[in-house]
Amino acid sequence: MPQQVPRLAVLFAVLVVGFVVARESLVPDTFGDVGHYRAAAVTSIAAREKSYAGHRECADCHDEIAEQRLASHHSGVACEVCHGPGAAHSEYPDEVELPAPRERGFCPLCHRYDPSRPTGFPQIEPVAHNPLEPCMSCHDPHAPEPPEVPEECGACHGQISRLKTVSHHVTLDCTTCHATEEQHKITPRLVRPGKPVDRGFCGTCHDEDADSQADIPRIDLATHGEDYQCWQCHYPHYPETG
Ligand code: HEC
Ligand code: HEC
Ligand code: HEC
Ligand code: HEC
Ligand code: HEC
Ligand code: HEC
Ligand code: HEC
Ligand code: HEC
Repeated sequence: MPQQVPRLAVLFAVLVVGFVVARESLVPDTFGDVGHYRAAAVTSIAAREKSYAGHRECADCHDEIAEQRLASHHSGVACEVCHGPGAAHSEYPDEVELPAPRERGFCPLCHRYDPSRPTGFPQIEPVAHNPLEPCMSCHDPHAPEPPEVPEECGACHGQISRLKTVSHHVTLDCTTCHATEEQHKITPRLVRPGKPVDRGFCGTCHDEDADSQADIPRIDLATHGEDYQCWQCHYPHYPETG
């Protein structure tokens, strides 16, 4: 018999014994009682001291702020998201204070411009947006509103407007392509601007026969890009040809 066979047998025996011992001593008692987890975990987690109170509890004492928030754009942002865990404060308000996030760095956690956020989520560039002043001098954190109706499209569509500034379409106003009612700037989601719907629209400047400025590059509207919409190939806010 080759000498590695008994050695392997010993190793195998050690592994089997090890496995049996580990199973007996390390697996918690209630493991598997109600599923592939330790059943007692539920009670031991429930027994932990709670640190968050939930926004309804805050409303017991701060009812005005609570009402204000629920009617505001921050209705989806709970009190403790900004003020931190408040269970201890709710129980002993005179002894445990809750901090308020007054520094300028805080609000941009959600509102700093980030292209991965959904279009239309209110975003600002903190370095350029009224620098040095605390956000609260112009926006109430419990009922945030811009203090005045913004005039420029770029106040809310910052990235598109910055991109257009360095594009071939720099001379075109947004409203050349998007008929926009003033009300869009007040309730942007309810009143939406128009958008170009067909190739003919771009053709009004770019078709060979179009009656537009001489220096605009021309294409044959009937054949160029076949049946696709122009903006399936050219991003209208930064059109390229390469
Ligand atoms: C039992 C009543 C009670 C509950 C519940 C309660 N608070 Fe308070 N809270 C108080 C009192 C009293 C003060 C002190 C008021 C003062 O100093 O003018 C206070 C003060 C505060 C402050 C002021 C801090 C500052 O810098 O001025 C904040 C923030 C606050 N509470 C947030 C909360 C939040 C968030 C909750 C819910 C998690 C909550 N409170 C729940 C009673 C309560
Ligand atoms: C978006 C973040 C945010 C949310 C959500 C929020 N707060 Fe505040 N809260 C603040 C900031 C910032 C201040 C400081 C305001 C200041 O100094 O002008 C503040 C101040 C307070 C104060 C001190 C008194 C006052 O009016 O300045 C209380 C009390 C308070 N908040 C309670 C609450 C309660 C209760 C809720 C939920 C109903 C809540 N907050 C939700 C950010 C928030
Ligand atoms: C946890 C994320 C979060 C934090 C922190 C936060 N916000 Fe907001 N904020 C939101 C959401 C969500 C909306 C609603 C967006 C919408 O209407 O689609 C909003 C809306 C706003 C608006 C726009 C209101 C409008 O007219 O459209 C302003 C202004 C604003 N917040 C200011 C602040 C200020 C100031 C702070 C800091 C005190 C702050 N936010 C902190 C999530 C946050
Ligand atoms: C001096 C006043 C002032 C200060 C300070 C200020 N803002 Fe504004 N904010 C405005 C005005 C005015 C608007 C309307 C749009 C514009 O003109 O830029 C606005 C608009 C906004 C919007 C809405 C943008 C949109 O797309 O709907 C958000 C979010 C916002 N501010 C967050 C903040 C945050 C966060 C801070 C602190 C870092 C802050 N603001 C500081 C005056 C201010
Ligand atoms: C107060 C902030 C604000 C201002 C100012 C603003 N918009 Fe908007 N705009 C929005 C929001 C919010 C949306 C909705 C985004 C969403 O729901 O996807 C939107 C959507 C749009 C859309 C897309 C509509 C759709 O159906 O897809 C266009 C186009 C647009 N805006 C153009 C403009 C133009 C042009 C201007 C200037 C004349 C302008 N906006 C000014 C906030 C604003
Ligand atoms: C040359 C015409 C043209 C100009 C100028 C133009 N747009 Fe557009 N825009 C379009 C077209 C076409 C679409 C539709 C694209 C699509 O459906 O894929 C669009 C889509 C949009 C959308 C919704 C989709 C998105 O990309 O988020 C917004 C918001 C928007 N434009 C805002 C603006 C703003 C703000 C300006 C000015 C800074 C502007 N546009 C200038 C042609 C234009
Ligand atoms: C109001 C007239 C006008 C309209 C409408 C218009 N454009 Fe333009 N377009 C221009 C001008 C002006 C230039 C820049 C010419 C220059 O660079 O000198 C241009 C340039 C271009 C270029 C060339 C970029 C390059 O690399 O040379 C493309 C591609 C383009 N536009 C696509 C579009 C598309 C797609 C639409 C429809 C969504 C459109 N344009 C609507 C005026 C217009
Ligand atoms: C299938 C993709 C596609 C579509 C759809 C498309 N284009 Fe183009 N376009 C291109 C390409 C690729 C080029 C660069 C090569 C060339 O000149 O053919 C170009 C070039 C251009 C130029 C520059 C021409 C020059 O002489 O410099 C303009 C202007 C233009 N397109 C406008 C449009 C307009 C307006 C539409 C809609 C009617 C459109 N394109 C649709 C792919 C497309």
